[in-house]
Amino acid sequence: MQILIFNDPLSLANACADRITDLIARKPDAVLGLATGASPVGTYAELIRRYEAGKVSFRSVRTFNLDEYCDLPKADPNSYNSFMWDKLFGHVDIPAENVHIPDGNAPDLAAQCEAYDQMIRDAGGIDLQLLGIGRNGHIGFNEPADAFTKGTHIAALTESTIEANSKYFTENPMPKSAITMGVGSIFAAKSIILIATGKKKAEAIRNTVCGDISPSRCPASILQLHPDVTLLLDPEAAALLKTS
Ligand code: F6R
Repeated sequence: MQILIFNDPLSLANACADRITDLIARKPDAVLGLATGASPVGTYAELIRRYEAGKVSFRSVRTFNLDEYCDLPKADPNSYNSFMWDKLFGHVDIPAENVHIPDGNAPDLAAQCEAYDQMIRDAGGIDLQLLGIGRNGHIGFNEPADAFTKGTHIAALTESTIEANSKYFTENPMPKSAITMGVGSIFAAKSIILIATGKKKAEAIRNTVCGDISPSRCPASILQLHPDVTLLLDPEAAALLKTS
């Protein structure tokens, strides 16, 4: 696991964008696994800047988002579909058919989960997976549980996650479940970047890096076993890591 600590958010976003644009330069039809939430927003803004400057094209890139709320209309401003088009896709040249976001309103959610995993396999797997992390160590919406999840599935959100995200739901109550790629789907990515900033993430980062590998304590701890993981942190998120 490589751990990089940045003193300012712009350098962190630049480092993350560098890895993504380097990959696209090597493989123009790269398969990106993408996250929503506050953590990747600076990176997405930097990717848009580089696209506008003619330094990268997303013409052949394919993307798979980690998750989406259930029972929230696709066009709702709080849906992850709206988030991704607002923060990235709507500002670059990615064709809509190359974008994949799980459908939390599908009439048959079990079939939607299976179809999503199949689409990732058909695309040749994820080359680079971008992650944030929950205060409870969740990745995607894989909350602490007795066992690591495998493929895409429906997850009940925990109180910790509802508390963290309900600030966005000012008009309607926050959904209590989501469709999410599993820990197994995330782990299958060839390369993984996890972004964490702020002191509320410090304990989850300590558990990810040096805690027991435990689905109940910290789902992200499984990343200790992955051959190509980079953590991009600010000093607050890294505060509980030993430096020597
Ligand atoms: C989002 C996702 C979540 C977030 C995590 C951190 O697609 O899968 O795991 O990455 O909840 O959220 P932020 O970045 O808002 O702190």
